[in-house]
Amino acid sequence: MRVLGLNGWAGRGHDAAAALVVDGRVISFAEEERFVRAKHAYGRAPVHAVAAALHRAGLTLDDIDVVGFGWDTPALHRDRGQPWPYDEKGALEALLPRALFPRTRDPRLEFVPHHLAHAASAYHVSGDPEAAVLVIDGQGENESASLAVGRAGAISVLETVPVSWSLGYFYDAVGRYIGLGRDQAGKLMGLAAYGTVREDMFDAFRFDGPGYRVDSIDPGLRSDRSIDDSAESVDAWLQHVEKVAGMPANPASSRYDPASARYVPHTRHDPFTYKDLAASAQHVLERAVHALVDQLFALTPSRVLHVAGGVGFNASLNGLLLRRPDVERLFVQPVAGDAGVALGAALHLAHRHGDAIAPFSGSLAFGSAFEDQDIRDGLDSAGVSYEEPADIAASVADLVAADRIVGWFQGAGEVGPRALGHRSIVANPALAATRDRINLRIKRREGWRPLAPSMTVEGHGELIDSAAELPYMVVTTPLRPSAVDRMAAVSHQDRTTRPQTVSAGDDPLYHRLLDRVGDRTGVPAVLNTSFNGNDEPIVWAPADALRTFFRLGLDAMAIGPFLLRKK
Ligand SMILES: [Fe+2]
Repeated sequence: MRVLGLNGWAGRGHDAAAALVVDGRVISFAEEERFVRAKHAYGRAPVHAVAAALHRAGLTLDDIDVVGFGWDTPALHRDRGQPWPYDEKGALEALLPRALFPRTRDPRLEFVPHHLAHAASAYHVSGDPEAAVLVIDGQGENESASLAVGRAGAISVLETVPVSWSLGYFYDAVGRYIGLGRDQAGKLMGLAAYGTVREDMFDAFRFDGPGYRVDSIDPGLRSDRSIDDSAESVDAWLQHVEKVAGMPANPASSRYDPASARYVPHTRHDPFTYKDLAASAQHVLERAVHALVDQLFALTPSRVLHVAGGVGFNASLNGLLLRRPDVERLFVQPVAGDAGVALGAALHLAHRHGDAIAPFSGSLAFGSAFEDQDIRDGLDSAGVSYEEPADIAASVADLVAADRIVGWFQGAGEVGPRALGHRSIVANPALAATRDRINLRIKRREGWRPLAPSMTVEGHGELIDSAAELPYMVVTTPLRPSAVDRMAAVSHQDRTTRPQTVSAGDDPLYHRLLDRVGDRTGVPAVLNTSFNGNDEPIVWAPADALRTFFRLGLDAMAIGPFLLRKK
């Protein structure tokens, strides 16, 4: 069965994405932001991502049996007294206009409840027959967290948390209060590592029963103006934060930056001064999620834990879950945010049809790939000079060992917010000065933003304190004490790091690069950060890479078998 899973609707929503699942195998999975070059692709339908998915598979919409959407959008409208203006045909036309996707017949369209889609995105690709599944985000249709169990292929939701107590909206509100902007949870998590926790700050969170509750916010708070409750819930949290933070909100605006020729965020105060608030918010978030895991484990005997939903991007939190003594195995869906429901909707429908779902292998390279000849033609027409070394991995390893910062564009693009060795910037992880150069001069962002390493699966035992392979950069783990000095650029304030372990089976070329670096430096690891500028989507096509290479001031770029050096 051929299932196309979607997220994103023209004019509203965020994180538009498309996933194509054929006979239980993920053939393509990509986010619209990479094509439209705007982070999170706010207000976009995933039309470019669908076109790329169909192209990759050599299919047209006529070949698709069913389209799944990762929200029950009619229910969202109905539950808030808003009319749902479409019949099935009209909804499909709104999502996939015939002008862009000609067809002789319409595939079936199904709306999959949002948290069920998140849960399916983790459970079905995990390879685990049974698991406790925790979904935590801003909100689904009528809940902000779902405690579920996956067993024999089926997912049952056991308990939910009301939208107004949303941990996702809480964290978003704190980020906005601090002046980091909306959807900047990653920045808030990075800042939290520098602060001191004030245990009493968020005592509105109560832990005297199963899970958690929030004293100061009405659990029945709902919107009658919008189809979701985000504005009301974030406002309620902002009012609460204002009462307890002990410092005023940090207003954020935009200011024109002539150096980058863009508007960039500007705040009245340095967000770093809010580090204790960040640390306290991170602490109570961790406590609340631990309480949800306790609640979930009381409901199901499985000690295999799956996590999905945007809060699943919180790598510090995931590190704590990994190290919980009662967790036998942790699987965090690496596309934990809302792009993941495109995949989850497709997997849910494919499974319901009877298809056996193939587990993730450790690679997320589900996007567009480009032929070497096309890359060469692009370089030639741009008039840039390049070399074609015998072994691109060895040549880049020479540059990394000489402390150069190198763009690395290889194979199909990854899905999700982490570059995993296909659209990466790589460097020697040994020097703290390299982190500062990347943060301040290349990415033009806060100096306190942590960076992370990729390492060979064979070498990871010497570098990090984790028996588990961690292929997706979604979990932090302590560095071994002996590795802290050798990995200074990727050692966080608390001596943890957010690693990617790479096997030759999953990614032979990237693994060879790490090995060659190890031959030269003694450490089979690189600093790996996404190939993009600040607040831009990761590069997707060779033209994006070429533009970004010159603009960011990288020392060199490997693009397919070709090597460009900055003069
Ligand atoms: Fe979500």
